[in-house]
Amino acid sequence: MNAGDRVETLRAQLDEANYRYYVLDAPTIADAAYDEMMRELQEIEAAHPELQSELSPTRRVGAAPSARFAPVEHRTTMLSLANAFSIDERRAFDERVRKLLGEPQVAYICELKIDGLAVALRYRDGVFVQGATRGDGRVGEEVTGNLRVIPGVPLRLRERLAGEFEARGEVYLRKSDFHELNLRRERNGAPRFANPRNAASGGLRQLDPELTRERHLSFFAYTFVEPPPAIATQHAALERLRALGFPVNPNVRPAASIDEAVAFCEEWERRRDELDYEIDGVAIKVDRFDFQERLGTVARDPRWAVAFKFKAREATTKLEGITVSVGRTGTLNPNAVLAPVEIGGITIRNATLHNEAYIASNDIRIGDQVIVVRAGDVIPRVVGPIRELRTGKERIFHMPTKCPVCGADVDRPEGEAMARCTNASCPAQLVERLRHFASRAAMDIEGLGDVLSEQLVAGGLVKTFADLYALDGQRFASLERLGEKSAANLVQAIAASKKRGLTRLLIGLGIRYVGEQTAAILARDFRTMEALSAADEESLQRSEGIGPEVAASVRLFFAQRRNRDAIEALAAAGVEMVERGAAPPPDSALKGKRFVLTGTLASMTRDEAKAALEALGARTSDSVSGKTDFVVAGEEAGSKLQRAKELGVPTIDEETFRRMLTEARSPTPR
Ligand code: IVH
Repeated sequence: MNAGDRVETLRAQLDEANYRYYVLDAPTIADAAYDEMMRELQEIEAAHPELQSELSPTRRVGAAPSARFAPVEHRTTMLSLANAFSIDERRAFDERVRKLLGEPQVAYICELKIDGLAVALRYRDGVFVQGATRGDGRVGEEVTGNLRVIPGVPLRLRERLAGEFEARGEVYLRKSDFHELNLRRERNGAPRFANPRNAASGGLRQLDPELTRERHLSFFAYTFVEPPPAIATQHAALERLRALGFPVNPNVRPAASIDEAVAFCEEWERRRDELDYEIDGVAIKVDRFDFQERLGTVARDPRWAVAFKFKAREATTKLEGITVSVGRTGTLNPNAVLAPVEIGGITIRNATLHNEAYIASNDIRIGDQVIVVRAGDVIPRVVGPIRELRTGKERIFHMPTKCPVCGADVDRPEGEAMARCTNASCPAQLVERLRHFASRAAMDIEGLGDVLSEQLVAGGLVKTFADLYALDGQRFASLERLGEKSAANLVQAIAASKKRGLTRLLIGLGIRYVGEQTAAILARDFRTMEALSAADEESLQRSEGIGPEVAASVRLFFAQRRNRDAIEALAAAGVEMVERGAAPPPDSALKGKRFVLTGTLASMTRDEAKAALEALGARTSDSVSGKTDFVVAGEEAGSKLQRAKELGVPTIDEETFRRMLTEARSPTPR
């Protein structure tokens, strides 16, 4: 086959593959095969400049960046649809249509209303020559180069239609592409887009088509102007568009009556989240073109169609201020104070802004016009600003450094989105903290759950953990729904909790990062609350598994005067502050030492050796590093021994190891 024929074959195959992928949504060849054909075509075209063509699938390039967009006058106005919100409005539309036509029944076609932006695509002799935005309906902007890089826009029709042909449809951004785009932007430090429509609209207006390409826009055609007489209905027009190579939305339904149309609307309002693109309603159109013509147009809206709009999920309004509340777990939550705006029948005045990092990464400023989303029962949230509407008076928000409820220090560990109040007795957190204090893994106070915690805090009976121990049966009995018997049991349970020991108390205090395991290690190594509260980060990190984050968190906890006061009050109430369980001898020479075991030991298994070391406060690890103190080499020790020698780490044999253990267990008094 000569190069010319091969080029034609490849182009036809690639065009067909694109059509099956973008239009029929039924790809028939694998990506790899496609890439291979594309590569071959590129090679032949490079070697034979005379075979190059603007219409080759290799040439889905836009155009050189331009300074601005040229105006394009639409030959027929790009109309918009009148809105209908209620069932009554849809019925009224149907009645008017039937009355004007003098028909007892009129057939409709229902299409999804894609939430993107309308464009007009002009073809000459089957070749894409010009594309424009809707603009004001009469004059739009020329964006041919940008439309050329959208894979669903056919550069050449599947039929060589003589003369001019104009298709219209919607450019949009898939939700999945939108999320990926925002992820990329986040990684590059660029602000996120508030919604797919804004991202699509901005993408189509890039002066450099390469930037448009990066947005991964998509396209659905829904009509063409001046249909030939052979095509008598909208339904047939959609079929024709598909045959010509345009992507057409598959969710279309003929409706013999308005009731069927209403059912289609309801179905898709329910199912809209199943789609990978946003729809904002359903377009109900009179199917027959001759009827459409007789009905005509008033102002901008055709009388033969109506847009049934779904309940709105978002609106634009002014962000008047940001307040900060403290959640039950101590998180500082920024809340938007909005100029009141109605979304889907409800007036919204407040919305969440999640956290400080969210505000910063979305570049949201006080005074901005912002997009607010409210979907279903979910709390309304601010998704982003409309930067184009900025006046320069907007202010950047900073999280307070003191808790707005109790005035304690606020901490936001590096790499975390949430700032937190550091005070364990902060009234905002108290209910949750009290419940946790009393939970089974902590102080195990049976009967003190959610409800009672709420009541105690709300009634002002408990302001800090220690207040619990001052409560008597009478006080409890005065609370709602608590009988005398349960009150007595509770008093007993509270008294019994005084003897739980340091581990449980540490768990109960709710120090960040200090869960059951860490609490047990800290209690084992430090023995008393006094010693733990005096420990600096370095000595904390000498304990097994305590890294810099945990150490910093423990330090921060004890550095708060309020927390020290709360602990003192607990001690005064008689709560035990020492650990009684097994402890390493206080002067164990092996405490904090790092061991690596290698090879086989004759007198004990590796697990036994590990346990013996851990009981003495030493740590074991599987790999040798500069931090290793000793490598214990048993029989047939291998690469670890080698590595120890390279690093100059002392190696000991089994006998020396056993002696070390014995000595550490019964230290010679100093
Ligand atoms: S028909 C005269 N069909 O919604 C009819 N429009 O105000 C013109 N849209 O500007 C539009 N999906 O951008 C039609 N299946 C669909 C549509 C659709 C989205 C947009 C279009 C138009 C607006 C209607």
